[in-house]
Amino acid sequence: MSEPIVSLKNVSKSFYDQVKINIIDKATHDFHKGESVAIVGPSGTGKSTLLNLLAGIEPVDSGLITVLGEKVSKQRAPLLLQSHIGILFQAFYLFEEATVLENVLMPAHIARKKTGKGSPHYLRAINLLTSVGLEERAHGGIKHLSGGEKQRVALARALCNNPSVLLADEPTGNLDPVHGEIIQQLLLDIAKKDGKTVIIVTHNHDFARQCDRVIHLNNGQLCT
Ligand SMILES: Nc1ncnc2c1ncn2[C@@H]1O[C@H](COP(=O)(O)OP(=O)(O)OP(=O)(O)O)[C@@H](O)[C@H]1O
Ligand SMILES: [Mg+2]
Repeated sequence: MSEPIVSLKNVSKSFYDQVKINIIDKATHDFHKGESVAIVGPSGTGKSTLLNLLAGIEPVDSGLITVLGEKVSKQRAPLLLQSHIGILFQAFYLFEEATVLENVLMPAHIARKKTGKGSPHYLRAINLLTSVGLEERAHGGIKHLSGGEKQRVALARALCNNPSVLLADEPTGNLDPVHGEIIQQLLLDIAKKDGKTVIIVTHNHDFARQCDRVIHLNNGQLCT
């Protein structure tokens, strides 16, 4: 089998909040090119934390995570997020002072790419907004968007730099069935047609079943 794109070796993570909360306990797992993987598990088991570990936003306590063969660390997180990893956060974290299009272009801007009208990233951002059904809102603000619209802007932003790895935290959590279906198909296509590694946290079991694999996160273990 080909080299994994994302790899966890003996990874452990816990938090302390009065008591010790074990999130991941000596987990070893590989994610490959072109696969869509659903992460499921009860609320509070650590699914969002796992995505943060994969992006280097949270440090591991012990063990090793690599992306494209390189060690993930908090120091390298900004670089990873500018190049190989796109992340859709559960809470979106959009910038209300910027327009929809400026939000989508933010990762390109941070990576010091040209983002002016007509530039490849500008055109990509418009295409991404079209694919999530929001091209008409490109020059509008964030503040008055609905939850589902914000979620779709955040997904377009996560894809702006054409990352090899997409981490999506409940990407259809705020969507009606029609938009949910469009976004599900978009995410599955990014894996199947574009050959990206797509890791999706979801409580939607129908969606999880459509992914190539399902991983259950429970009691610190990643079980298939
Ligand atoms: N910085 C932190 N400090 C202390 N505890 C934390 C911290 N971040 C998360 N936790 C705790 O870790 C556990 C896992 O949180 P996480 O957000 O990863 O769960 P989740 O599986 O994504 O849940 P949900 O399905 O509700 O989104 C929770 O009990 C949470 O309170
Ligand atoms: Mg979560």
